[in-house]
Amino acid sequence: MSAGSPIGRLDWTARRVAVEWADGARADFASIWLRDNRREDRDPHSGQRLIDVVDLPAHPRIRSARLVDGALLVDWEDGAAATRYDSDWLRRHSSAAGAAEEIARKPWLEGAALDPGRDLAWLDFETLRGGGMPRAAWLARLWQDGLAFLRGVPTTDEGILQAMASVGRIAETNYGAVFDVRSVPRPENLAYSDLGLGLHTDNPYREPVPGFQALHALVTSPDGGESVFADGLALALHLRELAPEDFDRLARTPVPFHYRSADVDLRARRPIIQLACDGAVAAVHYNNRSIAPVPLAADEAERFYAAYRRFGGLLREARYRVTWRLRDGDLVVFDNQRVLHGRTAFSSARHPRHLRGCYLTRDSVQSAAACARRAATEGRRT
Ligand SMILES: [Fe+2]
Repeated sequence: MSAGSPIGRLDWTARRVAVEWADGARADFASIWLRDNRREDRDPHSGQRLIDVVDLPAHPRIRSARLVDGALLVDWEDGAAATRYDSDWLRRHSSAAGAAEEIARKPWLEGAALDPGRDLAWLDFETLRGGGMPRAAWLARLWQDGLAFLRGVPTTDEGILQAMASVGRIAETNYGAVFDVRSVPRPENLAYSDLGLGLHTDNPYREPVPGFQALHALVTSPDGGESVFADGLALALHLRELAPEDFDRLARTPVPFHYRSADVDLRARRPIIQLACDGAVAAVHYNNRSIAPVPLAADEAERFYAAYRRFGGLLREARYRVTWRLRDGDLVVFDNQRVLHGRTAFSSARHPRHLRGCYLTRDSVQSAAACARRAATEGRRT
């Protein structure tokens, strides 16, 4: 039985089937698409397709298409077994549905209007580790908002890894599985100083760019060292409204990013605003500390810098920023390909400050969120 709107009407020819649902939605399906998506051609256990596209007839012809118990039943002229397509399945996979995300990202532009303690997701460490619906809901919010918090994470060296075992897979770097953010003399990276840091995404010079980042507050300072975040996805969409040419310039200009230290030399080229093939904003890469000279002729450089400055100017506007003081045992996780982060300056001489961080692969967090939701929906604990 169909859970959604039933199919109200069918029209068909030998090469396509047009479907109209009772609520007025319409889609049409090519015969080769229908033939390629026969359930019978998938392994019943794994669900993986057993045939390749060249195994299909180039132009499979439909002998008849009709509704049987609310589903589409297609008979084929070449004698292949009749195929049944459920109404909801067709609707979900139609061109009208598009490639919807499993859990949609929800941009938040005016960060200053948010109260992070109330408007963003928080979960206790022990509750996260308990799994089930609370973990599923928190992971979904992490994916939707690109930013979520934990509290009560043990302030030990291993605390962050214990917590992240319930969130995603660690992406090691030259720093190892974790890195420590605290002031050191003559730092190789300005993150390891007392300086305030402007909004940025981490490590655009890596391939791939770290997906999610976690920062665990082991020792916090009562004055300075506040965490600042802004939603790069919302800001990129805002720039597209304000100044479409600048948006295009940032999406089309490959920017070299470079980081070197005693033991690494990391380089990658990517645009500041990265688009998916359908034009959606896929990622934002903004890091003033590691952008290398962009090889542009003078005219192009002037246009690029106008766009870059406009976007950078948006990042300086207080209304787009959410600020929060982490307390000992708090942990923040954010989508490093979307949410920019920074901090206010602090004085390590007066108050030491120590955060421990790590990166998570982006696909593992997305997968954890999807699996947790599926398991919670099915009433299982993960
Ligand atoms: Fe950073």
